[in-house]
Amino acid sequence: MLAGIGFVLAACAGTLNAQHGSPAGPVAIDRLAARRTALAAKLGTGLAIIGSQDLRDLERDYLQDSDFRQDNNFFYLTGLETPSSWLVVRATGSGRPDAVLYLPPRDPAQEAWTGPKLGPGPEAAAMTGIAEVRSTESFESDLAAWLAGGASPAPSTVYVSLGAAARDSTLARMLQGYRGSVTDAAPILASLRLVKDEDELQRLRRAIQITGEAHREAMRFTAPGQYEYQIEAAIEYVFRAHGAERLGFPSIVGAGPNSVTLHYDKNRRQTDGDDLIVIDIGAEFGYYTADVTRTLPVAGRFTPRQRAIYELVLGAQEAAMQAVRPGITIRELDRISRAYMDQNSGSLCGSDPCTRYFIHGLSHWLGMDVHDVGDYRTPLAEGMVLTIEPGIYIPEEELGVRIEDDVLVTRNGYELLTADVPRAVDAIESLMQRQPEWVTGRP
Ligand code: GLY
Ligand code: MN
Repeated sequence: MLAGIGFVLAACAGTLNAQHGSPAGPVAIDRLAARRTALAAKLGTGLAIIGSQDLRDLERDYLQDSDFRQDNNFFYLTGLETPSSWLVVRATGSGRPDAVLYLPPRDPAQEAWTGPKLGPGPEAAAMTGIAEVRSTESFESDLAAWLAGGASPAPSTVYVSLGAAARDSTLARMLQGYRGSVTDAAPILASLRLVKDEDELQRLRRAIQITGEAHREAMRFTAPGQYEYQIEAAIEYVFRAHGAERLGFPSIVGAGPNSVTLHYDKNRRQTDGDDLIVIDIGAEFGYYTADVTRTLPVAGRFTPRQRAIYELVLGAQEAAMQAVRPGITIRELDRISRAYMDQNSGSLCGSDPCTRYFIHGLSHWLGMDVHDVGDYRTPLAEGMVLTIEPGIYIPEEELGVRIEDDVLVTRNGYELLTADVPRAVDAIESLMQRQPEWVTGRP
C-alpha cells in the first residue's frame, strides 16, 4: 500500500511545476531573479527571511473555501505555491544575491489529502532559478549559521516578513537571541512591489479584462426584481469562466439603501426599479487583482437626479485622472478631485457642495492586494498602478454613486486599464438595453 502511494507520488512529480495548471502560468525565472536581486540591493549588509503561507486546516480554521493561497511576498520572490516554506536572501556584493529556499520534505500521508507538493530538490531549483534548495528540516541549524556569519560577517540587520515571524515560534526564539537588529521586511518589499514589472502588468491586465467582461455582463443582466446575489452570481460566473482563480475581495453589489454602504457585501436585497446599484468587483488572476466599480440605474435609465449626481462624480474622476503623471502624489490627485466637486456641485446637494458626501479617499495602490502595499506619500512613477474612485453617498436619499477605474502610470501620463468598461451615462444605458445570452431562474 505505502509503496503504491510512493509510486503515485513519484509519477506526479513531473506535474509539480511552479503553478501547475494555473491559467496564469508560472512567473518567468528571469523576473523572479530580478526581484531577488532588487531586494538584495536594498538589504545592504542585512539578511532577509521571507516565510510562505501555511496550509489551512479544515477542522481548525473557519474556511469559506479550502483553497491554498500563497503569501504575496513569498510568491513575488519565488513564484511557488508551496506551504510552510522559507526563502533567505542576502547581498553578496557580486550583483548575484545568495538565496536559499527551504521546502518541507514531501509527505505521502498529507499529500493523500491535499495533493502532490513540490519538495526540496533540483526540480524546485529549476522552477525558481534558486540553485540552493534545502529541506526545512535544516532551516534552524542553517539559520543559526547565517546569523553567526558563517564564512562571511554576521548580517547587520535581519529583515523578516512579519507574517512568518508571528507564526513561527522557532524563528521568533532564534531571533530573540540575535545580537544585531531585527526589523520588518514589509516596507522594503512594498517599495519593490509598488512598481510593477512586465509579468505583473500582464497578470493585472488580464484580471482587469475579466472584471470588465463581468461588468458588461452585469449591465446586460441587471433588471428590476433581480436579487443582488443573482447579479453577483452572473459576475462571479464570468470570473471563473475566464480563469480567475479567486475574488480579489468580496463582491460589493449594493442597490438602493445598500448603495451608500461602502463595503456592503451581503448582497441580499431584491432590486427595485428606482434603485441605483453600486457594483464594486475584482477578479484575481495569477495572484493579481482588479478593482473596478460601476454604478447602474437598475431600470436601465438614470433619472435626472441620479444622472446629475453621477455626472458630478464622473467629472471629479476625470479631473483627477487627467492629472495623473510621474511626480504627482495621490494626495494631490485627491485634492484635485474634491476641488472639482466643490466647484461643480451647484445646488445639487443644497447650499454646500456635494463633497461632504465624498466620504473616502480617492485612490489606493493596486496589485497582489486590492489595497496594495506601498507608502501613500510616494510620488507616482512609471509602472505604478492605482485606482481612481470618487463617490457621493447620500443616505437620506438612499443614493450612492461610485465610479472606480484602474490606471497605470506611464512615462508621460497614464494608461486607463479599464478603458473598455462603459462609464459614460449613454454607454451604460445603451448596454443595459441588451439582454445577456443566458438568464438565471429565480430561486
Ligand atoms: N473596492 C473596494 C475598496 O477599494 O475598498
Ligand atoms: Mn478600490
